[in-house]
Amino acid sequence: MTHMEWIENKSLLRHNTFGMDVYARWFTEVQSEDALRNTLARAGDIKSPLFILGGGSNILFTKNVDGLVLLNAIPGMDVVQEDEQYVWVKAGAGVRWHQLVEYCIEHGYAGIENLALIPGNTGAAPMQNIGAYGVEIKNVFHCLTAMDVQDQLMHTMYADDCAFGYRESRFKREWKNKYVITSVTLKLNKKPDYNISYGAIARELENMGVKDLSIRAVADAVIKIRMGKLPDPAVIGNAGSFFKNPEVSADTFHALQEKHQDIVGYILETGRVKLAAGWLIEHCGPAEGVSWKGYRKGDAGCHALQALVLVNHAHASGADIFELSNRIIESVQQTFGVALEREVNVY
Ligand code: EPU
Repeated sequence: MTHMEWIENKSLLRHNTFGMDVYARWFTEVQSEDALRNTLARAGDIKSPLFILGGGSNILFTKNVDGLVLLNAIPGMDVVQEDEQYVWVKAGAGVRWHQLVEYCIEHGYAGIENLALIPGNTGAAPMQNIGAYGVEIKNVFHCLTAMDVQDQLMHTMYADDCAFGYRESRFKREWKNKYVITSVTLKLNKKPDYNISYGAIARELENMGVKDLSIRAVADAVIKIRMGKLPDPAVIGNAGSFFKNPEVSADTFHALQEKHQDIVGYILETGRVKLAAGWLIEHCGPAEGVSWKGYRKGDAGCHALQALVLVNHAHASGADIFELSNRIIESVQQTFGVALEREVNVY
């Protein structure tokens, strides 16, 4: 039996976009289903706790991992099926998400151009049903393959099995730590059906002087918008939106509007309202008349251009970021009576 090398006491600094210098007791990287099977079996034999890591772009480490960190680096991008209108693209879990987006743009496969530049790997994308600018992966999801951690058997899951919701899936709930996703297959469109309903995209396309829409142009607009307000993790540690946008009833929304005329909310099909958490965070703060937006204590801060994003300016600890997130949750609760929920996983 072959197994990949296990490295002892490995720093995870380069494996999490928050830039936390925590250590893994053991660390290994798998690049194939066979290697994954062997590694899971071995970890099971010695009863080692297991931590599955992808791009590390949605995790806040507050402590070392006393177990095996398994970096899922399974490669590959292929067209597995095709008809006149659609193409099914299968990608390995270890493929960087944006690399898959670029591959699809190059080949003229539409459907994920709005999801350009989202950090992280393809395998993690369905877990939290990544979304941006009016599109979620569930809109183009066909199926995924996953290995059961316990018995190493392979399973195929379709959209209905995954119970996708806003930044939600079964993999975050009852299937947490039960499976390792090995590949994701998307059903993409050869005849683009652009979604530029999100105001910022339409404005950006106009700024860019785009006359004829194309997959490339939409992706470029998204890339520009993201680069304009989201901090680049290579420069300043962060994991994108730290909180979810909370949902409230229409009545609650109207009551909030009476007190805060310019509060931002989007009415959902259900009649409930999704509030812009960034707005809520911007409109309260650590002291009277001070906003959280741009706030900084030591190296832990709230991004100056997008209040929903918490940042590690250099040497903040996971605990520093976590504490700041607690203060923000409390402050939003006190000011608006709204409960914020973290979007980032905390370890
Ligand atoms: N806003 C403020 N102040 C802020 C930030 C936002 O007032 O500091 C208000 C503005 O009115 C703005 C509105 O909130 O128009 C929406 O802001 P934005 O377009 O930046 O989107 P978001 O709701 O803050 C969500 C996703 C992002 C995604 C964008 C675009 C969540 C948790 N976040 O952010 O996803 O890129 O929409 O679709 O749903 C991520 O999940 O990591 C992520 C970056």
